[in-house]
Formats: sequence, C-alpha cells, structure tokens
Amino acid sequence: MKVIELHGARVPAIGLGTWDLRGEEGYQAVLSALSLGYRHIDTAEFYDNEREVGKAVKDSGVPRDVVFLTTKVWYTHLHFQDLIRSCEESLRKLGTDYIDLYLIHWPNEAVPLEESLSAMEKLQKEGKVRFVGVSNFDVDLLDKARNIAPFPILTDQVEYHPYLSQKPLLEYCQKHKVILTAYSPLARGRLSQDPLLCSIAEKYGKTVSQVVLRWLIEQDMVVAIPKAKDPKHQRENLEIFDFSLSEDEKEAISRLDRGEKVATRL
Ligand SMILES: NC(=O)c1ccc[n+]([C@@H]2O[C@H](COP(=O)([O-])OP(=O)(O)OC[C@H]3O[C@@H](n4cnc5c(N)ncnc54)[C@H](OP(=O)(O)O)[C@@H]3O)[C@@H](O)[C@H]2O)c1
Repeated sequence: MKVIELHGARVPAIGLGTWDLRGEEGYQAVLSALSLGYRHIDTAEFYDNEREVGKAVKDSGVPRDVVFLTTKVWYTHLHFQDLIRSCEESLRKLGTDYIDLYLIHWPNEAVPLEESLSAMEKLQKEGKVRFVGVSNFDVDLLDKARNIAPFPILTDQVEYHPYLSQKPLLEYCQKHKVILTAYSPLARGRLSQDPLLCSIAEKYGKTVSQVVLRWLIEQDMVVAIPKAKDPKHQRENLEIFDFSLSEDEKEAISRLDRGEKVATRL
C-alpha cells in the first residue's frame, strides 16, 4: 500500500469511505475492510455511524495505532465550544482516546475560521486530535486556513474523479504540501460505462474502479476514500498496486473532466 508521509502522519493512499453505512451494515463493512488490510477509515459525526466504526476497529484486533481514523465536525458545530463538544462526542462514540485526523466537514461563513481553528488547536494540544484538516474548501479558503492555523492543515477532502477536475486546488496542494483526499472517487458508479475507462481497464485486465483509483493515487499528494460495503468491491479497490498507467493514459483520463459533481453541496 502506498502511504503519504507528511508532518509526521502516515496516510494510506486508499481508505474506506463510510457514508451511508449505518448500523450492522456499517459495522460489518468496516470489520471486513480491516480484515482485508485497510488501515485508513473515513467517517463523520454526520454519518451517524461512529459507534459502529469504533466498535469494528476494536473488534478487528488491528492495533489502534496502525489505523488512520478520520472523522469530521458538522458545519453547524463550528463555534469554539460546539466544536470541542462535537469532538468529545465523537471520541466517546468511536471509543478511542484520539482521532488521527479531524476535519471541518464544510465551511460555514457565519463562524469565523479563527474560532474553529483555535478549538482545533486546543484539541490537538490536549492530544485528542493528532492532525487537523478541512473538507470542501476551495483554494482561497484553504489558503486562509493555512495562514490562520499555527499547525499544518494536513488535508483538504474534496470530490475528485475523472468527471470532476480539481486542477487549481491540486496544484495548490502539491505546491504547499497539503494532501488532497478524493471523496466520491468512483463518482458513485457513474464512470462504470465510460468507453475510455472501459478500454484501459480491459487492456490491463482491471476494472474501471481500479483504473480510476490508480489514476487518482498516482498523482502527487492524492489519496482516495472509495466507499464499498461489498467485500468484493473492498478487495478490488485495494488491488491497484500491481499495474501502472502510461502518461498518455493519465492525460486522456484527465481530459474526461466535465465538471460533474455527484455529492450534494450545502
Ligand atoms: N467530505 C464530504 O463532504 C464527503 C462527501 C461525500 C463523500 N465523502 C466520503 O467519501 C466516501 C466515498 O464517496 P461516496 O460514498 O460518495 O462514493 P464512491 O466511493 O464514489 O462510490 C460508492 C459506490 O461505489 C460502489 N463501489 C465501490 N467499489 C466498487 C467497485 N470496485 N466496483 C463497483 N462498484 C464499487 C459502492 O458499492 P457497494 O457499497 O455496494 O460496495 C457504492 O455504491 C464516502 O463514503 C465518505 O466517506 C465525503
């Protein structure tokens, strides 16, 4: 597994997304992923599954310190005390002493970024959060956060797949050493019939999902968090380290951009 090492963090290039995986289904999905070798799990207070995610991490027998666990604070909880409370609630539900990566899930203009980042600083100093990041921030807002924060912003988690270019943000992240975490990396299935992706997949004896994930993680500073409840999909999404794409193929995939978003914007 490729790992990005940055600011003391070790972030596996493929993580498991857990949006929409609740209850027993969420528990089983995380348990299965950990048994297959996933060591990076993405959840959020908004996903209503932190309890199941935490229980699966515990029950998996995988030592806590080799799992990179991300959760996110919802945009209505960004005032100082609310953010602290949300973090403590997440820690309680996850059943852990610390979160590896705590993200501001969406920006909220009504709350000064300084206030939220100062709460993050307190959590980090107390050892409750190892690394801090943001999600759904554009270049200007990420730059603002980086200028305010007295600590590195480890990642900006945004929607990224072949139908949605993130060129300006990615260039910024590569220049300033911020990980770009690609969410909805498979565009929730919308790429599966794409003729170019199908032909590249056939050439390598891989699936479209594997080609797309390989294209993402071959880019400097990019990691991806495909969601998969089916163990077959989970395994497939890890088996992308035994082939590589040519420069021409990578460029052709980049040209598929059509500005198509699949995740709902706030
Ligand atoms: N920060 C944010 O605002 C934000 C927003 C959206 C998502 N996210 C995060 O990003 C994660 C991933 O994004 P997403 O859930 O929107 O979409 P996604 O990962 O692009 O797509 C998930 C869908 O793809 C299917 N799939 C997975 N692997 C496959 C494979 N190898 N072959 C065929 N189908 C496959 C899954 O099926 P099965 O489940 O049936 O296996 C599921 O239906 C989320 O779970 C969440 O953690 C963050």
